[in-house]
Amino acid sequence: MKRVLTYGTFDLLHYGHIRLLKRAKALGDYLIVALSTDEFNEIKGKKAYHNYETRKEILEAIRYVDLIIPEYDWDQKLDDVKTYHVDVVVMGSDWKDSPKFEYLKDYCEVVYLDRTENISTTKIKEDIMKNLK
Ligand code: CTP
Repeated sequence: MKRVLTYGTFDLLHYGHIRLLKRAKALGDYLIVALSTDEFNEIKGKKAYHNYETRKEILEAIRYVDLIIPEYDWDQKLDDVKTYHVDVVVMGSDWKDSPKFEYLKDYCEVVYLDRTENISTTKIKEDIMKNLK
């Protein structure tokens, strides 16, 4: 059983997220999503439209996702890898070579997947705002 782990906020779920999750799951058999809590988003300077419980409920309905755990801290990753016996940590290419993930290479595989172009939660919000003006 190959276990894959990825991190994110996954607010206003869009096809960029779905493609990331689909490709992440394809790297193994069991996909764990560490979902940023509302408190951690505050630390990151992010404000999600949907709260943690709602984002979790939406992600639970996605067939590629097997388990959702909370992401509450920048420094929990190594613990997560050990606790959940993770083989591969996957992130979008916006995190490529980031020290936040690179050190995990001593403990598991770290894979960066290309982001889907021209879509993000921020862009959705901005485009809707523009159309309302
Ligand atoms: N992701 C992706 N392609 C996109 C958008 C996101 O592959 N077009 C990936 C990110 O690289 C990350 C995961 O999806 O691994 C969760 O990203 P998240 O930051 O929650 O989504 P964004 O849409 O990038 O949100 P924001 O605009 O708030 O940064």
